[in-house]
Amino acid sequence: MSDCIVVVNFKTYQTAHGASAEELARVMVSIETDARLVAAVSALDLSAVVAAAPGLEVWCQHLDPIQFGSNTGWAHPATAIERGASGTLINHAEHKISLEHVAALLEQVPEGFCVCACAADVDEARALAALEPTFVAVEPPELIGGDVSVTSADPVIVSGTAAAVREVSANVGVLCGAGVKTGGDVAKAIELGTSGVLLASGVTKAEDPRTALDDLVSEL
Ligand code: G3P
Repeated sequence: MSDCIVVVNFKTYQTAHGASAEELARVMVSIETDARLVAAVSALDLSAVVAAAPGLEVWCQHLDPIQFGSNTGWAHPATAIERGASGTLINHAEHKISLEHVAALLEQVPEGFCVCACAADVDEARALAALEPTFVAVEPPELIGGDVSVTSADPVIVSGTAAAVREVSANVGVLCGAGVKTGGDVAKAIELGTSGVLLASGVTKAEDPRTALDDLVSEL
């Protein structure tokens, strides 16, 4: 199961910003696992995190489909790539964008750059999958930040998304997220047909992030 992916979204948690983001990234890169661990960090922390944890896969939270030029305050893909981002997390429940935004971004980024588009439900996942991002991550908004994993609270949305996305495109991977905290949750996500998970508080709010990460990959 070495192709399993665990994406940790640092959001803007105090425990995962600035120097704490760098420290968490160092912990992530030191975890012994065959799973693919990814840190999805704020654009503001991107360079520092990349420098702090060589070898760690780092994505930039959100990017805008803009080019060099007069685009004050937008998140420029080419700069993110230059600063070490190998992917992005877009259309998160906390930062919704249009399908057109997703499509334009996909047209702009180079081959091999990971785009993980978040969906609130199966219908949105299907619509996003038609644009062929690298991953679609289904996250019921009401379960985000909670203590019950989507894999237990709503396994049908996970298996339903996996089936729906597969129907639309064989090239798009499926992740699930919201409330994911344990190795059991990750194993269940895989059993339900995903390639892995997207999570935040299970790591960023853990008393000991290393123990949390070790547990998350323990059943792979
Ligand atoms: O992007 C992951 C996130 O929305 C899920 O958050 O805290 O429920 O793992 P959390």
